Amino acid sequence: MDWGIKNRLSKLIQPDGHCFFLPIDHGYFQGPTRCLEEPGQTIKPLLPFCDALFVTRGVLRSCVDAAASKPIILRVSGGTSMVGKDLANEGLTTSIEEIIRLNATAVGVSVFVGSDYEHQTLLNLSQLVNKCEDYGIPVMAVTAVGKEMEKRQARYLALSCRIAAELGARVVKTYWCDKDFDKVVKGCPVPVVMAGGPKCKNELEVLEFVYDGMQNGAIGINLGRNVWQNAHPVAMARALWAIIHENATVKGAHELFNEVKNSKK
Ligand code: 5RP
Repeated sequence: MDWGIKNRLSKLIQPDGHCFFLPIDHGYFQGPTRCLEEPGQTIKPLLPFCDALFVTRGVLRSCVDAAASKPIILRVSGGTSMVGKDLANEGLTTSIEEIIRLNATAVGVSVFVGSDYEHQTLLNLSQLVNKCEDYGIPVMAVTAVGKEMEKRQARYLALSCRIAAELGARVVKTYWCDKDFDKVVKGCPVPVVMAGGPKCKNELEVLEFVYDGMQNGAIGINLGRNVWQNAHPVAMARALWAIIHENATVKGAHELFNEVKNSKK
């Protein structure tokens, strides 16, 4: 691996081999998502407990302090909305010059395997890899399912992750699943990071799935709503950090969640 890409990946994936990415890119198709109406305010107390931000160029420029930030994974696909016809109909939104100008540590692009836009979004990924590898910038592929949340089964996720890796993604972000998640990870030759999805019913459920995913080979998380839509986002981020970087058990992380939550009262 060339020095530049190795150096960028080392800013995202910590010496323990794990990572906690905080996505705040939801507005690119959802608009002002609950608790993310003012992204700058949302991230302020959470920055100490994440390794990178996943964000679009618009929010990066207007809401993220360039002098006191975390490494940036720039979201560079989009062009659809919640009220449009099909969330899968994405294109690439950001040029390589802009990616370099914004000093992105990595970029993220969604692929929608099995959708009407499978070919288009897989070529988005391939073309982005072609451009970014020239400059040593790693590409993270997001195996997106749009509104079809029922697709989140091992067989489908394994297929999507493997294709994304074959096309050149350096990291793949996918959903955790309760059955055979280890097979999803084993079939993917590059590191796998877990996405969050809609808010779980309680924090224990989040801690449990993250712990299980880490035990089954994921290297970390890219979790948004289950962090900043929690009533106690700092406690949640701290507890997740403990699982990702401090080998905490679910019980230990939950105790830490309660400790931090109660200390803030
Ligand atoms: C949407 C994305 C988002 O970055 C990410 O999945 C959202 O995070 P979460 O689901 O945890 O709120 O890639 O496709």
